[in-house]
Amino acid sequence: MRVDIRPAIYSDMPKLTRIKQLARGETGDPNSAAFNAELRYLTAFLDERQSVFVQLVDRVPIAFCAIRECSTKPFIGYAYIKDLYVLPEWQRKGYGRKLLMHTLRTMRGKGYLNAMLDTAEDNTGARRFYERFGFEKRDIGGSSGYVTYVIDF
Ligand SMILES: CC(C)(COP(=O)(O)OP(=O)(O)OC[C@H]1O[C@@H](n2cnc3c(N)ncnc32)[C@H](O)[C@@H]1OP(=O)(O)O)[C@@H](O)C(=O)NCCC(=O)NCCS
Repeated sequence: MRVDIRPAIYSDMPKLTRIKQLARGETGDPNSAAFNAELRYLTAFLDERQSVFVQLVDRVPIAFCAIRECSTKPFIGYAYIKDLYVLPEWQRKGYGRKLLMHTLRTMRGKGYLNAMLDTAEDNTGARRFYERFGFEKRDIGGSSGYVTYVIDF
């Protein structure tokens, strides 16, 4: 089995949108309004020259991570993990951890010193994943229902 991680390109976007929708328990139906809204959101990352990394198993995308610079206090200048999604059938096999490692190593190479993210308070699986990875919860009195995690490189 061959596993690769590379920067995403425009033609990956529909597949990454599907990964995101399925990982969130949505339909992944390319004809739905939700799918098209998500596709526009992800495509904007590339339009704005932000980093999106795609992970492939035998050349088939199974996960992606989108990251950009944070521009809001108190995390200005942090690398901001916007999206990290692994297809349900590939979860809990170490792929998310490997992809996040690769993404953060790349950001460190670009000069970033720390990273942050927000996740839903009730997303216990993701929270456990980030905590196991080494992220620490940071209470900033942000929007209710979300928790913020940070990590220093
Ligand atoms: C969260 C997510 C990105 C993790 O990726 P993954 O490939 O499934 O995770 P890994 O296999 O690399 O997990 C590494 C460790 O994190 C922890 N972990 C990961 N998923 C977990 C879960 N659902 N519940 C509890 N712990 C979990 C475990 O300790 C795991 O190690 P172990 O399997 O040896 O016990 C992925 O499961 C996913 O896409 N989930 C749905 C979407 C989502 O919630 N995304 C994050 C939004 S911010």
